[in-house]
Amino acid sequence: MYPDEIKKELASIISMVKVKIEIEKGFGIDTVTFTNTKVSDAIHQISPNSFTEIKSTETPVVAKSIGIQAFMNTKETKIKLLEELRHEMLVCHKCPLSKTRTNLVFGVGNSMADLMFIGEAPGRDEDLQGEPFVGRAGQLLTKIIEAIDMKRSDVYIANVLKCRPPGNRNPLPEEIIICIPYLIKQIEIIQPKVLCALGAFAAQALLNTKAPVGTLRGRFHDYKGVPMMVTFHPAYLLRNPNDKAKVWDDMKKVRDFLKNEFT
Ligand code: URA
Repeated sequence: MYPDEIKKELASIISMVKVKIEIEKGFGIDTVTFTNTKVSDAIHQISPNSFTEIKSTETPVVAKSIGIQAFMNTKETKIKLLEELRHEMLVCHKCPLSKTRTNLVFGVGNSMADLMFIGEAPGRDEDLQGEPFVGRAGQLLTKIIEAIDMKRSDVYIANVLKCRPPGNRNPLPEEIIICIPYLIKQIEIIQPKVLCALGAFAAQALLNTKAPVGTLRGRFHDYKGVPMMVTFHPAYLLRNPNDKAKVWDDMKKVRDFLKNEFT
């Protein structure tokens, strides 16, 4: 690794540590201790060359009750951190997609979302509007969200890739490796209670597997302690409407999981 790259990685580590401290403060936690965090481990955590799990580097923290003020701080903090990340991505030229895109498609929705959807990559409409899932597949995703009694504005939606692959081709493995650290940071900031991977690319990238979506879907997987449902991508459903019932089954499990969290 070149010195400039090491500097960037270190800056990124420092910003991640700040993220954790700010979020934990926001939840009314006043003691955060970091132990034996080796820089090599920390670099490994955010290295785009790996899909391996981020290990916790903190000792347990003492949680206090969550007051309204803490809630406000947390929301504000998350919005601020997401905005900082978006700015970082606006100047990202780690892969050639940044040259061919019209807009960065960072992500959209509620920074306090309990449910976060992960798609594949922006298509033409998303590239033009700078927002994920706004085309035909997006309209279907909105209906899927509404079917479980939620609004699009309740959830957070992001993609594995933030820039459109030309001609809507599939993401290349190297593009996923380069871009996924940004998605990982988004998940860390939002801290959803449940994730929903839409299609093979999101599921395989986050679970570090090559298993087909047909065998992964329908059950919760563990993504760093967060339950992650895998289901078919809405674009696939547009081509294979007979599989809508399977997605409905998957989404009912998500709905029931969230219902149980709050009862
Ligand atoms: N398909 C995706 O995976 N993401 C989008 O944002 C749009 C279509």
